[in-house]
Amino acid sequence: MSFLQSWPEPIVRVQSLSESGIQKIPNHFVKPPSDRPFNIMDTKTTSINVPLIDLENLNSPNEFVRKETIDGISNACREWGFFQVANHGVSHELMEKTRAVWNEFFQLSLEEKQKFANSPVTYEGYGSRIGTEVGAKLDWCDYFFLHYLPEALRDENKWPRLPVSCRKLVSEYGQELVKLSKRLTTILSIGLGLNEDYIHQSFGGNNETSACLRANFYPKCPQPDLTHGLSPHSDPGGITLLLPDTDIPGLQIRRDNNWLTVNPIPNAFIVNIGDQVQVLSNAIYKSVEHRVIVNSKKERLSLAFFYNPGGDKLIKPAHQLVTKDCPVLYSPMTFNEYRSFIRTKGLTGKCQIESLKSPR
Ligand code: OGA
Ligand code: NI
Repeated sequence: MSFLQSWPEPIVRVQSLSESGIQKIPNHFVKPPSDRPFNIMDTKTTSINVPLIDLENLNSPNEFVRKETIDGISNACREWGFFQVANHGVSHELMEKTRAVWNEFFQLSLEEKQKFANSPVTYEGYGSRIGTEVGAKLDWCDYFFLHYLPEALRDENKWPRLPVSCRKLVSEYGQELVKLSKRLTTILSIGLGLNEDYIHQSFGGNNETSACLRANFYPKCPQPDLTHGLSPHSDPGGITLLLPDTDIPGLQIRRDNNWLTVNPIPNAFIVNIGDQVQVLSNAIYKSVEHRVIVNSKKERLSLAFFYNPGGDKLIKPAHQLVTKDCPVLYSPMTFNEYRSFIRTKGLTGKCQIESLKSPR
């Protein structure tokens, strides 16, 4: 696989543009009219609550309550591709501190942040674009991307040096989110009628499973109806655990032709299915398209934790889920190969997973 060694165009930090006080956004952020967020021709913006699951119920002595909880998650993955979890075992204090440290990071001087400027080779570090196509329309977002697992890819020297508590908090946060993600893959496997460690093993087990964190920072935007914070996409990986900003909405998910704004519940995580789990489940679970809208009033911060197959794992539909009525839908592909598409083309709705559809 060959990636560009550096970005094809000079990088301008969205935060710097926002803070410069411009009233008009540069042309390369302006989406074509059909892709704009408030296009009333094809979207109706309504806010919704995605299913909320109380994970504490999995410890209930009542078998019926346990089963109902697993079914709740399984149905949400089939119908919504999204759910929220409460009582998930991650300390609220740790969540708050980790969020705060990333907010502080984005408030550091440009010079300090630039020390971690990323490149399209691995994407690790401080970045402002996804994809390397020359002339592409860009999103109104800066981010910091880092590897947590596998351990061989974890390099704390590539994580922010400041604030001083950042590295320690990110390691603790990563450890807790890996535990929670692993637990969720067990429930997702059971919900498909597979062995409880099916997804975990398919991802490569304790040694190969990968996990990364992306802190997304969406600065205030003077023309929020012309651009996106993140363009429509489905997450390419396994599952995503999102700690959204609870002060300001922004995440929208697609249901049919409507974009619905998600109401985040304080202290909950928003969990969504990525393309690799859609493939493993032969499309029983859906990786649903979502996007982020920006606003002119307040910046927004979210932490997306991606729990993914190891890069060399070949991901294909579980043979137990392939029947005469449900023929195999996707051709096998390694996760690295799959991810290279988004890393060059950027975010493109659901067209990549469609391209994996096996010819019949
Ligand atoms: C993502 C994502 C949503 C958000 O990082 O893939 O969809 O609310 N983020 O920032
Ligand atoms: Ni996403």
